[in-house]
Amino acid sequence: MTNSINKTYKMITYGCQMNENDSEKLSGMLKAMGYTPTEDETTAGLVVMNTCSVRENADVRFFGNVGNFKHIKKKNPDLILAVCGCMMQQPQIVKKIKEDNPQVDIVFGTHNLHRFPELLANYQASGNRTIEIYDDDDGLIENLPVDRRYPFKSYVSIMKGCNNFCTYCIVPYTRGREVSRPHEKIIDEVKALVADGCLEVTLLGQNVNSYGNDRKDGYGFADLLRDVNAIEGLERIRFMTSHPKDMTDEVIDAVAACDKVCPVVHLAVQSGSTKVLKAMHRGYTKEKIIALVEKMHKRIPHVAITTDLIVGFPGETETDFEETLDIVRRCHFDAAFSFLYSIRTGTPAAKMPDQIPENIKHERLNRLLKVLHSEGNERNLWFQDQTVDVLVEGKSTHNEDRLTGRTMNGKLVNFDGNAATIGTIVPVHIDCARTFSLDGHAV
Ligand code: SAM
Ligand code: SF4
Ligand code: F3S
Repeated sequence: MTNSINKTYKMITYGCQMNENDSEKLSGMLKAMGYTPTEDETTAGLVVMNTCSVRENADVRFFGNVGNFKHIKKKNPDLILAVCGCMMQQPQIVKKIKEDNPQVDIVFGTHNLHRFPELLANYQASGNRTIEIYDDDDGLIENLPVDRRYPFKSYVSIMKGCNNFCTYCIVPYTRGREVSRPHEKIIDEVKALVADGCLEVTLLGQNVNSYGNDRKDGYGFADLLRDVNAIEGLERIRFMTSHPKDMTDEVIDAVAACDKVCPVVHLAVQSGSTKVLKAMHRGYTKEKIIALVEKMHKRIPHVAITTDLIVGFPGETETDFEETLDIVRRCHFDAAFSFLYSIRTGTPAAKMPDQIPENIKHERLNRLLKVLHSEGNERNLWFQDQTVDVLVEGKSTHNEDRLTGRTMNGKLVNFDGNAATIGTIVPVHIDCARTFSLDGHAV
């Protein structure tokens, strides 16, 4: 190792918003240490890979990418490679890194993110491979520096972990038990963000509507929404993900009543078959979902409801799958993330009989996507010829001359407008509704 430290870093993030938020914290810590970002790993002093373990192909992709660093390090021998995130909470992964991947210098997990500066300093001082994983922790670490990707919108983590143990899911094993952050800390963070020019916050948690269940004072997610809504200068509040079993009338009423709370609910349904939902350990039936979604459509004007769906869960028959198609048609979801069921070692579903062959999973996914797209298209048609408020996020990725942003209920809008409005909310007339986005012009 050379004496002068190359203080450039590349952050590579996989997975969900929790990981994106963690990467913003890691970047914040690095910037506080004098590091600057780069996109070029062949010249960087440090590469951090923040991993996700939710599906098997994520593991495969990770080991492929980490393997490439054997070659990159030949060209850039002073490069420090740090890996962290959900995959590192799985002992078999860390074992494989220890045994087969000597190019990895630092390994840490989801519970000791805050320790990164010390682990890095330790490695730099000793040159010894540094591996530190905690099984769990007893709370959330406050006041970590954050390097926010956008000045005008930000994630705010309101809780960590998950207690649900859905039978297919690895997250409770990688993120530990549910801990709600004190609401005063959340409110202070949002106020500080607003003072820093932030217009929109997304309240983050694996299951935000169970916020407060671990507290004894009865303060819950609906209270939090109302309190955050009262913050002056804030324009928009989003939240994700919502679990149908915790979507109470109080939460629905708070979403309807709070003018800054965006009328968009990411309600992860997973399947339309009550039999499959039971095997998944989700705690609701198909009928409950249909009634819940109808209630939300009635009570929250122009609400967009999006969802997550899994096809090919063990034991899913053609009839079960048709129940999923049916629930999509009856709930009129605005959009969905749909996934092929992926075996996660250590979860109960991995040992269930009647695993579904890959070709059937793919065939069902294709059929599901067709129904989802037609529902999404139908929902977007409502916007045609309407004028809607759009938070302008930047230039359109497909056409540099156009702008892109989101409506209150989360619809992506590409439009003709003035680049000086990036980071503000402007009225946009919608000329054309598409399946995944809306097209328009600023008025
Ligand atoms: N906590 C959220 C909830 O339950 O609604 C979701 C969090 S999880 C990170 C995101 C999505 O990944 C889940 O909603 C589920 O659809 C999907 N997922 C989780 N485990 C999976 C698996 N083993 N195979 C396929 N999809 C999976
Ligand atoms: Fe996974 Fe279920 Fe927890 Fe969501 S609620 S993170 S799907 S265990
Ligand atoms: Fe992946 Fe961990 Fe999120 S497993 S989906 S990064 S909580």
